[in-house]
Amino acid sequence: MTQDELKERVAREALKYVQDPVIGVGSGSTVFKFIEALASIKHQIDGAVAASETSAERLRKIGVRVLDLNSVNELPVYIDGADEVTEHLHMIKGGGGALTREKLTAAVARRFVCICDGSKLVPVLGKFPVPIEVIPMARSYVAREVVKMGGHPRLREGFTTDNGNVVLDCHGMTLLDPPKVEGELNQIAGVVTNGIFARRPADVLLLAEASGVLTKKRLPS
Ligand code: A5P
Repeated sequence: MTQDELKERVAREALKYVQDPVIGVGSGSTVFKFIEALASIKHQIDGAVAASETSAERLRKIGVRVLDLNSVNELPVYIDGADEVTEHLHMIKGGGGALTREKLTAAVARRFVCICDGSKLVPVLGKFPVPIEVIPMARSYVAREVVKMGGHPRLREGFTTDNGNVVLDCHGMTLLDPPKVEGELNQIAGVVTNGIFARRPADVLLLAEASGVLTKKRLPS
């Protein structure tokens, strides 16, 4: 089974979590498969909050109304992919650069359902570089601070986020305590968001393997 087929499989499985009139939709290739699958049940929902302009465009294309997060008091469920995920349902996200809107939508959501193919499950986060969205003026300062923390930041060339900022991809970060590092990165002036999603982890992980889709629930800590 190809990785694409695994993404399709997990995307279809995620439809079971669409049980409310409004849903949150993340970004990335797995989520784009989810949006394709959503077309078949779009009449069941009133609208969706999208974590990127690209997802918003794709949702509109299949006939789903896109809602502003500010107009939504409650978001029962948020469905999104990840670049890496652990058994604790901590994640690295933002490979597509949508990390800020993703973190925001996840913060509002009652339930975060992470959808991935099996290759994303790792024992420890950090092989995938941690993306950090930074105000352009703060780029060099933040990079120097990340170096002090042992990371190797690289500017994502030719890329601007939906919020008009730049992204530093930080290699070699030690992520034995992801919530701690997430907090430390947040403290650097000029950082808008970092791609460690551990303070608000996923609640459910749907992991597509050739043998089927595994469901892992976050254990209460
Ligand atoms: C987008 O910014 C990301 O956080 C994605 O959720 C993540 O990169 C996973 O993307 P894929 O589904 O394309 O692997």
